[in-house]
Amino acid sequence: MLLEKQMKLADVIHHDYNLVPVINRFGIVLGFGDGSIESICNNKNIDIDFFLTILNAFHDPQLLDKEFLQSFSARLLIDYLRKTHNYYLAHKIPEIECLIVEMASESSDKKRSYELLQKFFEEYKNELIKHIDREETRVYPYVIELEEAIQNNSVSESLILRSNEYSITSYEEEHDNVEEKLTDLKNIIIKYLPPSKNQKNRFKLLKELTVLEKDLVDHARIEDLILVPKVELLEKSLTNN
Ligand SMILES: [Fe+2]
Ligand SMILES: [Fe+2]
Repeated sequence: MLLEKQMKLADVIHHDYNLVPVINRFGIVLGFGDGSIESICNNKNIDIDFFLTILNAFHDPQLLDKEFLQSFSARLLIDYLRKTHNYYLAHKIPEIECLIVEMASESSDKKRSYELLQKFFEEYKNELIKHIDREETRVYPYVIELEEAIQNNSVSESLILRSNEYSITSYEEEHDNVEEKLTDLKNIIIKYLPPSKNQKNRFKLLKELTVLEKDLVDHARIEDLILVPKVELLEKSLTNN
């Protein structure tokens, strides 16, 4: 189903619960009333086209139309992607870490297994930090500089050199899969962690990892299917100039 501006936002959430953290990143918190997407965006000063693009990319990316790409700035998209990174690093990862520590403290006889789980998650976290750091220090600043230069009609030699040396295509090729390791982690919990009587926290951990995994897949899809084509358009107009 394609999400459209006249739909009530509450109905959208009933239809796809996974969109709750997505709308949250736009500053919309639960208790938002009975308004349509359009009225809520207007009240909160949110760019409707951009909001719908992100919502649809999470909900059903096959419905994404490339026409959308022209209607918002790359800076807006990057602001959103940065907020998502922050949501992972400042909220989701610490929550999961706490849960693992709690599980380890509950069980005195299976300490070793939990230590391994902790170590595995630590490695995963470091991989994610490295991935995010590369995007935030290398890729995003390049995109913002590119867009500003084109908007202001002030393309410098160094920007052209940089774009020849490191175009968005290289980012796309190197853009690795950060969610794969989460599947391995889920498998450890499902298959190999020695059974224990207290399953409550295991369910919770499995659920948290599944939610994070889906969010990361959707985030990467926004980078691949919205950011990359948008930057390709910018690079094209750079060479045309
Ligand atoms: Fe990212
Ligand atoms: Fe990424």
